[in-house]
Amino acid sequence: MAKSDQTIVLITGANQGLGFAAAKILVELSADYHVIVCSRNLSRGEEAVSKLRSLPGAKGTCSALHLDLLDESNIVKAADEVSKTFGRIDVLVNNAGINNDLQRLANPPVPLLDVYRSTFETNFFGTINVTEKFLPLLKKSKFNSSAKSLSSEPSSTTTTTTTNAPRAEAHAAPRLVFVSTSLSSLTMASDPASPIYNVLPVCYKSSKSALNMVMVEYEKSLRKEGILVWGLDPGLCATNLSGQGPDALRARGAQEPEIGGQTIVDVVVGKRDADVGKLVWQDGVRPW
Ligand SMILES: NC(=O)c1ccc[n+]([C@@H]2O[C@H](COP(=O)([O-])OP(=O)(O)OC[C@H]3O[C@@H](n4cnc5c(N)ncnc54)[C@H](OP(=O)(O)O)[C@@H]3O)[C@@H](O)[C@H]2O)c1
Repeated sequence: MAKSDQTIVLITGANQGLGFAAAKILVELSADYHVIVCSRNLSRGEEAVSKLRSLPGAKGTCSALHLDLLDESNIVKAADEVSKTFGRIDVLVNNAGINNDLQRLANPPVPLLDVYRSTFETNFFGTINVTEKFLPLLKKSKFNSSAKSLSSEPSSTTTTTTTNAPRAEAHAAPRLVFVSTSLSSLTMASDPASPIYNVLPVCYKSSKSALNMVMVEYEKSLRKEGILVWGLDPGLCATNLSGQGPDALRARGAQEPEIGGQTIVDVVVGKRDADVGKLVWQDGVRPW
């Protein structure tokens, strides 16, 4: 159970990979944070929570929550459980996601449209559903009244600069994060000089391009209510996302999940407030 003055950060798909890395950094950072570690398999979430609680440097607290993006009744139940236990959340990190594109190369191959559908079910519809069900709790954030004073402040129009200094007053706002990818960028995908020009997972990257638009629309509508919204590219990280395992990604130059997790944490703690409404990555902002 969180203390009433803690900042409650709910991270979907936090039992492994980038979600777990972000939870670990937050728990080690400060006693100010309570992380709700969501997982589609509760025992994997509980295992992650016991790892976090046993960290020698743990200062913050955490708890497990069963949350499956593909299960409507589970999402309703999870939001209800959080409402009863905490009464609010202060940050929602929509991190859970899949990259099913390799199924198109399986034997026998999964048809393209089926892969598009399964990918969009999780990354797009599932993420929107979780956002809609948890928004009422984000609106009850402890930051909500102070956040309203920020809503008249225009967000930066700069697309290339990053402000790393935390702004105390901006930190006092509810936050909504959509974990996307550089692969979602139409500008980069269509530029032959871009390193991602030839990257293949079309279903995965299309689902994240669509999610970027959802993020932009949430940002515009929630700005009035003082809720800050971002898209976030964690960079290529060695996780289980592609189904090939972390080592295969390391061999392609992937960085460790802690690096991507740190970008998530930077948004959570207020270091990226100059780039609200943008697709941020560790060194700046991605073009759409
Ligand atoms: N790794 C990268 O290079 C990279 C780059 C750019 C963006 N991203 C994004 O980063 C996010 C996290 O990915 P990751 O790299 O950390 O991959 P990961 O290690 O495979 O973690 C993905 C997480 O999402 C969960 N998940 C999948 N389907 C779910 C569902 N239906 N309901 C609830 N949770 C579900 C997984 O649960 P299980 O453990 O049960 O499978 C896991 O906890 C994703 O949105 C991904 O698109 C990753």
